[in-house]
Amino acid sequence: MSHKQPLRIAPKAAAATDSASEKLEIDQAALDRAKENLDDGPFTPSYGPWREQIVKLLNDSLATELVCILRYKRHHFTAHGMASPKIAEEFMVHAEEETAHSDRIAERIVQLGGEPDFSPNSLLDRSHADYDESLDLKAMVRANLVAERVAVEAYRQMIKLIGDKDPTTRRLIEEILQQEEEHAEELSDMLRE
Ligand SMILES: [Fe+2]
Ligand SMILES: [Fe+2]
Repeated sequence: MSHKQPLRIAPKAAAATDSASEKLEIDQAALDRAKENLDDGPFTPSYGPWREQIVKLLNDSLATELVCILRYKRHHFTAHGMASPKIAEEFMVHAEEETAHSDRIAERIVQLGGEPDFSPNSLLDRSHADYDESLDLKAMVRANLVAERVAVEAYRQMIKLIGDKDPTTRRLIEEILQQEEEHAEELSDMLRE
């Protein structure tokens, strides 16, 4: 197995393995290797090759969440006093939920032995989603919907890429994805109202 392979979506799915010939057996040698390198805490050697790339993916998501917080806060305060205070309030609720996402992602980066990148200088370059300064309420909702759809797509790709390489991170991303889908649904309902 090559450990040099980058975490990118493969152009074509590999042929399905013959599930009947597959055996569900614990790899005893891997258990023995887990008894060494205690400095790595919970991370056994099987994590090794992927840890850095997963930290990089998480740091890009952290940047995305931080840009989303800034955009929602900007929209919350500028939408205040407009026709629909309910929508302005919803922007703040989303900002708070994106804050919780960014905190959980930063926490996971540290657990993986990485450093969470909160640098404001490179935030927009690293973020998948854009900042937005629309002054019209409908344009704000639309910009947020675009950003949520981008986040949904990025998280879906990450879940595929991480697969069984790091189940804890994958579960975290799955939980965040569920909330981003809810955000997108709420925003598209607002556009239809
Ligand atoms: Fe989020
Ligand atoms: Fe969101």
